[in-house]
Amino acid sequence: MCGIVGYVGRRPGKPIILDGLRRLEYRGYDSAGLTLLEAGGLETVRAVGNLDALFAAVGDGASPATVGLGHTRWATHGSVRVENAHPHADCTGRISVVLNGIIENYKELRAALTARGHRLTSETDAEVVVHLVEEHAGEGLAAAVRAAIPRLEGHFAFCAVSADEPDLVVGTRREAPLVVGVGEDEMFFASAIPAFLSHTREVIVLEDGDVVTLRASGAECTDVAGVSVERAVSVVPWDQDAAEKAGYDTFMLKEINEQPAALRDTLAGRLSEAGDVDLAETGMGDEMLRRLRRIFIVACGTSYHAGLIVSYAIEQLARVPVQIDVASEFRYREPVFDPDTLVIGITQSGETADTLAAMRLARAAGSPVLALCNIMGSQATREADHVLFTRAGLEIGVAATKTHTAQVAALLLLALRLAWARGVQPEAELRRLGHELRAVPEKLEELLARPSAVEEIAARYRDERFFLYLGRGMGFAVCLEGALKLKEISYIPTEAYAAGEMKHGPIALLDKESPVVVVADDSPVFPKLVSNVEEVRARGADVIAVATDGNETIRELSRDVLWVPRTDHHLAPILTVVPLQLLAYHIATLKGYNVDQPRNLAKTVTVE
Ligand code: M6R
Repeated sequence: MCGIVGYVGRRPGKPIILDGLRRLEYRGYDSAGLTLLEAGGLETVRAVGNLDALFAAVGDGASPATVGLGHTRWATHGSVRVENAHPHADCTGRISVVLNGIIENYKELRAALTARGHRLTSETDAEVVVHLVEEHAGEGLAAAVRAAIPRLEGHFAFCAVSADEPDLVVGTRREAPLVVGVGEDEMFFASAIPAFLSHTREVIVLEDGDVVTLRASGAECTDVAGVSVERAVSVVPWDQDAAEKAGYDTFMLKEINEQPAALRDTLAGRLSEAGDVDLAETGMGDEMLRRLRRIFIVACGTSYHAGLIVSYAIEQLARVPVQIDVASEFRYREPVFDPDTLVIGITQSGETADTLAAMRLARAAGSPVLALCNIMGSQATREADHVLFTRAGLEIGVAATKTHTAQVAALLLLALRLAWARGVQPEAELRRLGHELRAVPEKLEELLARPSAVEEIAARYRDERFFLYLGRGMGFAVCLEGALKLKEISYIPTEAYAAGEMKHGPIALLDKESPVVVVADDSPVFPKLVSNVEEVRARGADVIAVATDGNETIRELSRDVLWVPRTDHHLAPILTVVPLQLLAYHIATLKGYNVDQPRNLAKTVTVE
């Protein structure tokens, strides 16, 4: 959940590491720190708060150090205070470590280290690592790291530097991300590629258990036993623009506007002009799809909402029963697996601990697992039997937007292919839907370009204390996502309800003060939704509807309508969620909040 940067090269490392941390700040931003290998030994600076605090603490002064580590933290073990910020030092002050992940047995290790005379100064799990490394420091830093690893339980990536070997950085990973950037006479470690994308696009993706020594001249990789291993260098297709705001005020707004491109890329090569779907790349042939008797979908947050949206389409189109659960519940509820149940783990980052755990559980019990993921080489893609990538590009805003709509599009492809393989829908109907899906990116482009009332609505309701979201079917799932967006970036309490359920409780919340957002797509249950909207109006609440162009019934019932282009109702969630993203965005910015880094959140949640 934290961000790690390591640098060794010929250039001064301080600005390179600080810039790398800026690009990883989305991973955590409650404290940060930096260690540089100066002539006199290690110099470490740590600060509480986001990176501005660290920048202020380190000052503008130049440093000649060409080796160093940086860290931006999202607190798990230990409160947010400077002693708990990374890097952590050993007792001698000659070794420094930054860690991302969790050391599960840190309490036992801490007790044992203390009994052996180590003096630990933080409440973190991470600090035990530097002291374990210290115990073998005489063998050299890489050997000391290798000696520490078997004593650690949990999932982690860490990097270490030593004043006694001032020309290198050592890093390792186990079920947490760490990549190497290969530059010209310089090398980088980072939790994610954007940290060094302005310096190099050449990347080495590490495997679990790799211990890598970086010098300016290159990388040496071994396994935990010290046996040399070869890792290939690949070139990432992103350029620096992907990690910049490109003229937008925020990453979130940029990413909302990148949705048409993300959708086009996700559909490319998988959906023909005639509307036929080809997902052969996943290795799930029609034979396997025909055999399936059930699908489990597991995911968290926005990815869960994408799964919920498309669970309706899978059941309606492919006639396969779908059960969907948030991964943190699923993993502990003892689900019943079998080889004819496909488990789909949806995770844009491929790092979410609960989703990974649920996927592992399913695999161990003999169910095939498909990962729907946005990040190549991520843990989810390594642990699944089958992988389907969204191609949304890098998403930096903590609130997921373009990865969500890309997930819905990719899952709709799967629904269409399943239906085709199982022969449960007329082929012409599936082609019609495929054809419609191809047109959605253009419709979304048009939606984003048209004048909209969303900013005016945001200004009117920015100080409301509560928003209720109502919808039915897929529209209900869209409401859950819209309500999550608003609460996570504007901190306004929201509730999303299946509209038909409102009269069983939440209607008590309504009065003239409560805006009600209604997602009114053109599904067969639209007439039922209309009755629910009437119930809302009867309580004096303002209705803000998201509806298809030309829907006169909704126009008459609502104070405001956010219009979206017409499409098939199975595909509508890709369009109807966008005004809700924008509503949340504008309310939060009017309130003066940092939408890219909402409080208490992190982009990837690698802890349970
Ligand atoms: O990387 P993942 O898709 O597994 O992440 C899942 C959730 O943590 C994520 O969607 C979260 O809910 C976002 N903050 C939503 O905006």
